Amino acid sequence: MSTVVLVYSGGLDTSVCIPLMRDEYGFSRVVTVTVDVGQPAEDIRQAEERAHTLGTEHTTVDAKAEFIEQYCWPAVQANGDYQGYPISTAIARPLIALKAVEVAKQIGADAYAHGCTGKGNDQFRIEYIMRTLTPDLAIIAPMREGRKMPDGSRSPWTRTEEIDYAEAHGISVPQTRDKIWSIDENLWGRSIEGGHLEEPDYSPPEEIFQWTRGIADTPAAPANVEIGFENGVPVTINGEALSPLDLVSRIHALAGEHGVGRVDVMEDRMLGLKVRENYECPAAVTLLTAHRALEALVCTQAELKFKSLVDREWGEMAYKGLWYDPLKEDLEAFILRIQERVCGTVRLRLWRGSCIVVGRRSDWALYNEDLASFDSKTFDQSESVGIVKTHGMQSRMYWALRNRSK
Ligand code: ARG
Repeated sequence: MSTVVLVYSGGLDTSVCIPLMRDEYGFSRVVTVTVDVGQPAEDIRQAEERAHTLGTEHTTVDAKAEFIEQYCWPAVQANGDYQGYPISTAIARPLIALKAVEVAKQIGADAYAHGCTGKGNDQFRIEYIMRTLTPDLAIIAPMREGRKMPDGSRSPWTRTEEIDYAEAHGISVPQTRDKIWSIDENLWGRSIEGGHLEEPDYSPPEEIFQWTRGIADTPAAPANVEIGFENGVPVTINGEALSPLDLVSRIHALAGEHGVGRVDVMEDRMLGLKVRENYECPAAVTLLTAHRALEALVCTQAELKFKSLVDREWGEMAYKGLWYDPLKEDLEAFILRIQERVCGTVRLRLWRGSCIVVGRRSDWALYNEDLASFDSKTFDQSESVGIVKTHGMQSRMYWALRNRSK
């Protein structure tokens, strides 16, 4: 008996994979794993229902708390970003793969299957985790391999072919025929692809957004919110201590109501393709803004400069899904050390799509009112005279040399 663990979202692609596993790839036992990282409850329900209809052994893993604590919080500490995108889909993939690995180990599976295509980033992220943790298991990607043609060759699946195949195998696909957008959702963000959305010169229609209001529909009055941090991780809202899940959910709702968190990027994908991407990340954008503001208050100038390089490298590794890479761990050692001082509160004003820092406070603030204030007597301004004179000395010497022939 051969067993395959299918990473299962319940959507069309991965549903098609179920009969394919049996009929084409010859597995006698298909185990589906759906990982709940905060996608709509309806998606989870549909996955369970379809798995039941198709007769797989199914597991749903609730990984929401783990996702926030082990994936989103490190992303906050590293100001997690790739080209302006808060890496929301990217950081969920290693966890989804990890849960599939746990199931595979438990049941002694022979192989994995996933629904990633050969164009995107997810194939890299998911397979890296599987290969790292269980190097001996086979990995099958039916969507990437394409459809088997009568002459034995392979050809990419078209959407219509997938729907026909699904219907022929008893998978109900109501409305699927006119679903235009490909959406990926988790607690950290929502990404919207498909149709014309990938084109750089196409204005995204308002209808693609579900988590963030359009500016015209946001409340006239701004919302002020104070976020408290402990070791670089958000722990309170307006002084109230909340669980990570409650905290993210509340910020999500508030920021979304005020139209905060839309991100539209020209993204360089791992294979080098430039693809335009739309995201809604109200909680991520808000919490990242607050975290950066607090770091700016407590870190030295040199630390901030160096950390921006570290963060950038971390963001790129996270984007690529290299979650267990030694360099990533090395970077995290640096990041975590600095986070020990990233404690305090940040006040934000959410209004008409913007998220503005209006106040910050920390016991570790490298700010001295007496030194910085215009009325300060402690700072002896006459001492600046000599320091100013040496400023740009080498630069001035250079200009003296350039001008000597004139
Ligand atoms: N391009 C993004 C990433 O690689 C998001 C992909 C999300 N997929 C989707 N079907 N909307 O992380």
